[in-house]
Amino acid sequence: MPHADSSLVPSSITSKTEFWAHVHGQLASLLSGQRHWVTNLANASSMVYSSLLAFTAHFGSGSQAVNWCGETATHQSRLPSRYDTTIADCNQCALTGFYLNSSLFPVPRFLGQDGSDNNSAAADASRLLLGPFCGKPACQFINISPGKARGVCADAYLQRRTILVPEVDLYPGHIACDGETKSEIVCPLIFKKGDKEIMLGVLDLDCLAVSGFCEEDKEGLEKIAALVVSACDW
Ligand code: SME
Repeated sequence: MPHADSSLVPSSITSKTEFWAHVHGQLASLLSGQRHWVTNLANASSMVYSSLLAFTAHFGSGSQAVNWCGETATHQSRLPSRYDTTIADCNQCALTGFYLNSSLFPVPRFLGQDGSDNNSAAADASRLLLGPFCGKPACQFINISPGKARGVCADAYLQRRTILVPEVDLYPGHIACDGETKSEIVCPLIFKKGDKEIMLGVLDLDCLAVSGFCEEDKEGLEKIAALVVSACDW
């Protein structure tokens, strides 16, 4: 199967629980045999984003739609005949992606001309930096240091729990990367090493509809987050 087809959603899937189980299985296959986080998180964000686009069409339009994308698709294209589904116009979809502790990012390989050894920017662990994602441009970093931390991603990271936001405008400190986003869910990425829990970052999904995410999504996405963490060497 071509890699891109792994984000197609069969018509037999009619609930969010089934949907997330399907995405989990597809992602586990896609990530096997490769353990670099940049590569795996890039394909994970694409898998979730593209699968959501494919899933929307199952529920038709208007009040029947599971409206991840906020609006009915403006155009639809047919997929191979074995999949009874369509792909919504990408312009309607919000963001699926990762913010990661800046200490995980590569340090500069080539130092300054003067031979100075200045890696301070990469070693600054007081921020989450934008990692692999799909969607429109998003904010580059999120403060997580005391007194500066703000927003859903920082809260999910610091509190080590998933935060579901039905209406972003009502969330104190919400950082608006896209004025059209109406709801959001953020899951922490937690690496368990012996008795220790090491915080890596967060998985962040934005939706253009109010109340785009529910408990079923929370359960499904927490499993996706755990899979991504276990599939990489950190
Ligand atoms: N809304 C997030 C910021 C990231 S964007 O949604 C891509 C927050 O409040 O932390």
